[in-house]
Amino acid sequence: GRVAVVLGGNSAEREVSLNSGANVLAALKSRGVDAHAVDGVPALLDALRAGHFARVFNILHGRGGEDGVLQGALQSLGVPFTGSGVLGSALSMDKVRTKQVWQALGLPTPAYVALKRGEDVSAAIAQLGMPVIVKPSHEGSSVGITKVRSAADLPAAIELAARYDGELVIEALVEGEEYTIAILNGVALPSIHIVPKGGFYDYHAKYVSDETQYICPGLDGVAEEEIRALSLRAFDAAACAGWGRVDVMRDAQGRNWLLEVNTTPGMTSHSLVPKAARAVGIEFEELCWRILETSML
Ligand code: DAL
Ligand code: MG
Repeated sequence: GRVAVVLGGNSAEREVSLNSGANVLAALKSRGVDAHAVDGVPALLDALRAGHFARVFNILHGRGGEDGVLQGALQSLGVPFTGSGVLGSALSMDKVRTKQVWQALGLPTPAYVALKRGEDVSAAIAQLGMPVIVKPSHEGSSVGITKVRSAADLPAAIELAARYDGELVIEALVEGEEYTIAILNGVALPSIHIVPKGGFYDYHAKYVSDETQYICPGLDGVAEEEIRALSLRAFDAAACAGWGRVDVMRDAQGRNWLLEVNTTPGMTSHSLVPKAARAVGIEFEELCWRILETSML
């Protein structure tokens, strides 16, 4: 049947999603799939009610697409879709509650303070010490994120993140190396060690710069096995399914710290899941096909 590639939407990651979606659409078409782009959830639901599509390849990033809301609607309509279901999507879009689940299971994630608009959590922040990283709880692509090394810079960082979200995470900054692990159909692909030129893997380093270095596999031997196994456990713990990507920091002592799960990771030419797949011989078209297959499980 016909496949809707749902992209765009109205989150802060709209542009990234349009980019990811265009690549996915082209790949599926070249594999002979009768695939069509649909921009945003309202248009998708209209098309589904009109019976235009048999399944959905979801490549919406951020709120409204990656957060369980769309997944619930699709489930109600009985339309199969790629990736995680309601629970995994909703949980993973919420950095605070993802960390709480990991902590409850004894999985390593950096110490943090959650801050809701208007709350005074200065004592808890003081206990956390410096440096920290301030993040909107429900965003992606590093939107609204600041690394803070001095308490004097904290208010501006909080103000920036609060523009995007009513709940923030102030997290102990892990000084070390940044890794990401793609998960595809229950298997952790080789880790990617990300080396951004300016030291911060921000929006520019993610999508614009050609100077960010990616080393894949990022580690060798037991260390590589460990980071993959941890990422798979973290993915399962967050009730995720199908495909996704787990972001991990590795400190100077070689300890891994879980940051978050992305349930609809980027598929742009700069994105990470395609790089990890390529390292095991899965080219982009084949990758898109295998992700589409996650809607058939
Ligand atoms: N949130 C972006 C799309 C990613 O994780 O790749
Ligand atoms: Mg993310």
